[in-house]
Amino acid sequence: MPDNRQIQDYIRPIVDFPKEGIVFRDVTTLFASPRGFRMAVDQLLHPYAGTRFDKVVGLEARGFILGGAVAHQLSAGFVPIRKKGKLPAATIAESYTLEYGEAVVEIHDDAIAPGERVLLVDDLLATGGTAEAGIKLVERLGGEIIGCAFLVDLPDLGGRARLEGLGMDVHALCAYAGD
Ligand code: PRP
Ligand code: MG
Repeated sequence: MPDNRQIQDYIRPIVDFPKEGIVFRDVTTLFASPRGFRMAVDQLLHPYAGTRFDKVVGLEARGFILGGAVAHQLSAGFVPIRKKGKLPAATIAESYTLEYGEAVVEIHDDAIAPGERVLLVDDLLATGGTAEAGIKLVERLGGEIIGCAFLVDLPDLGGRARLEGLGMDVHALCAYAGD
């Protein structure tokens, strides 16, 4: 019997996590599935067939898992953007707004050379604050963002519109509206 499961079928909804009223989209079940994980990486790559990238930038934490696999397939380098204080060498930083308070992400200041072509990867696009901070870091180093790729888009939270407003090309494998 053919297996017709799509990306969404591998993502586990967790009701009321991390707090009441939130449906958390748990992608660990997708990562754990040999078929699901391969399908996700293949579909993330799909729009970029024939496109040359120098670097894939992954956003901590789940963006590392996807970004590493995507970078390997593209024969590109992988660059992590991490939460503040985790990267050992010289960094530049960007802060962004969370629902409560602020967060800071960093990139090594020599991780991307001016003019390098970059694909930004993360698991999920919500408000777009995390991705926008990542975009700013890459652009401050002179990198050119060719695309931003996500497994999940929560369009009601405005991230896609926000990134498209910055001139970004946004690619997401599935969307959950009404979350
Ligand atoms: C989640 C998710 C994205 C980000 C999206 O990460 O993995 O990175 O939120 O939200 P935004 O579009 O509103 O910025 P989280 O900050 O929970 O950290 P983690 O990936 O390290 O668990
Ligand atoms: Mg994250």
